[in-house]
Amino acid sequence: MNFGGGWLQFPFMSQHRRGSAAALLVLLCATLRAPALENELARTPPMGWNSWYPMGTKVDDKGIRATIDAVVANGLKQAGYIYVNIDDGWSRRDSRDAQGNPVSGRDEHGNLVPDPQRFPNGMRALADYAHSKGLKLGIYSNAGARTCSGYPGSQGREQQDANLFAAWGIDYVKHDWCNVSPTAKAPELYRLMGQHLAKTDRRMVFSICDWGSSNPWTWAGEVGNLWRTGGDLAPNWLNILSVLDQQVGLESYAGPGRWNDPDILHVGNGRLTLDQNRAQLSLWSILAAPLLIGTDVRKAEKDVLGVLTRREVIAVNQDPLGIQGAKVSDTGDLEVWARPLKDRAQAVVLLNRTQAPAKIAVKWSELGWPSDLAARPRDLWTGQDMEEAHGGLSTEVPAYGAFMVRLTAPKLPTTNLPPVGRLVIGDGSPVGTLYDTGRIRLRVLPYDADGRVTKVEVLEGDKSIQSFAGGPYHFQFQRPPGLYRLTARITDDAGATSTTEPLELKIELKK
Ligand code: GLA
Repeated sequence: MNFGGGWLQFPFMSQHRRGSAAALLVLLCATLRAPALENELARTPPMGWNSWYPMGTKVDDKGIRATIDAVVANGLKQAGYIYVNIDDGWSRRDSRDAQGNPVSGRDEHGNLVPDPQRFPNGMRALADYAHSKGLKLGIYSNAGARTCSGYPGSQGREQQDANLFAAWGIDYVKHDWCNVSPTAKAPELYRLMGQHLAKTDRRMVFSICDWGSSNPWTWAGEVGNLWRTGGDLAPNWLNILSVLDQQVGLESYAGPGRWNDPDILHVGNGRLTLDQNRAQLSLWSILAAPLLIGTDVRKAEKDVLGVLTRREVIAVNQDPLGIQGAKVSDTGDLEVWARPLKDRAQAVVLLNRTQAPAKIAVKWSELGWPSDLAARPRDLWTGQDMEEAHGGLSTEVPAYGAFMVRLTAPKLPTTNLPPVGRLVIGDGSPVGTLYDTGRIRLRVLPYDADGRVTKVEVLEGDKSIQSFAGGPYHFQFQRPPGLYRLTARITDDAGATSTTEPLELKIELKK
C-alpha cells in the first residue's frame, strides 16, 4: 500500500464500493464475549447440506433419502459434511375447509405435521434413516406465525415444537424470522426457542436466522450455535463479494460453539466458475463459516464435488482453535485474508475480485510475523509445497478467483506475537474515495497471528476518538478541511498492544 508517496487523487474506486457524487475531495498522504451456549455442539463450524437452494419447498422423503445416499456415496460424509438439513416447506400447510373456514396445518394436539403426501413415512423414519447412514437430520422452523414460505410457524408453540423435534430425533434446528410482529425482539424470541430446545433430552444445533437484522453477533453466541449475518446469498460472484464485505470486523464474536453464518455454499450453483467455486470455499474457510452445501448433490458434477471435498481447505475451516480469520489488507479489488491456525500456522487467501488475472503480494509483517521470517507455504488447492518464502510472497491470482496457502514457520518465536493492523478509508481501500457529505468512513483491520483481538482504539494525535471491544471496527470521521493524523491501538488476548502506521488524511473542499 502507498501511504507515503505524495498526494493522491482517487475518484477511481472499484465499482462495488464507489460513493455517490462528490462535494468533498479527500486527499490522502500517506468483546466483550458473552458465555457460549453450552450444548457442546458445533465446536468447529457445522458442515452439511441444506435443501433450500436445490429443492425450495418441493422437499420430500424421496429427495432427502436420495440426498443422504449421495452425501455418503460422493465422499461428502467422509469429508465432514454430516448434517442433512430440511429447510422451509416440509410441513402440512394451513388450509380452508369447504365453507372457507381456516384449518390449521397442525394436528388436533397442535403438533406440526409433515406434509402427508411428500413425507408419508413421517420425520422419525427419516431421522432414523439419516442416523443409520452415520448422518444427522436438520429441520426448519420460524419465530413468527408463518414461515417465509407460508407454512405454520412456531410463534407461541416453541416448547411444543422443540419437544416434537427432539422426539423425532432431529439434530439441527434452523429458526427463521418471517412474519413476526413488528414489536418482536429477536434476542427474546430466539432465547425462548433456544431454551426450549435445551430443555429437551436431545442436543440439537440451534441456527439463528434473522439475516443480521438485530446485530445477532452481539447477543447470539449465548443463545445459539450460529447466526446468519445477512440476507440470502445469491449464486453469483458480486453477491458473494458483497456478503464477504459484510463479514469484515465480525471475527471477534466467533469461536467454538458460536459462528457467524454468511449463508450457504453456492459451489456448483448458478454460473459460478471453478475459480469462483474455489474462492467461495477458500473464503468461507478463512471465515470459519458453516459449510452448508447448497447444490443438488444427487447430480453434482465431478469438479464441484472435487471443490467441496478439498480436504486441506476444509481442515482450515475446521481448525480446532476456532478463531475466525480477517481481512488484513485491501487495495480496492485485491485483498489479503488470514486466519490463525493451531501449531502457530496461518492460512492466507489472496483474493482477486477483478476480471483479469492479477499479482497479489502479502508481507509476513502484515500477518503479525517477523518481517524477515522464512516460512513454508503450501498451496491448498494443488496440495503442493512451495519454495521457502522469506518475508512474504507474491503470486498471480486468476481473475475472479483466489489463491490459498497454509504457512508454517519452524523458526517462529514461541512467545506471544503482538497484534497488527491498519487504518483504511472506506470499506478497506488504502487509496481513498470520494465522499458526498464530508463524513469519511474509516475502518480498522486488526489481526492477531496467534490469538484474538480484544480491543481497538483509534487515536487522533494522542487523543482517543473511538474505542471498540468488538467489531465491526468502522466509524464516521467528520471534520472541516484540514490535515489529520490517526493511528489505531490494538490489544490481543494476551494483553499485548501495538500501534498501527499513521493514516494521514488531508480533507479539502471541492469546488
Ligand atoms: C429465508 C431464509 C432462507 C430460507 C428461506 C425459506 O429467506 O433466509 O435461508 O430458509 O427463508 O423460506
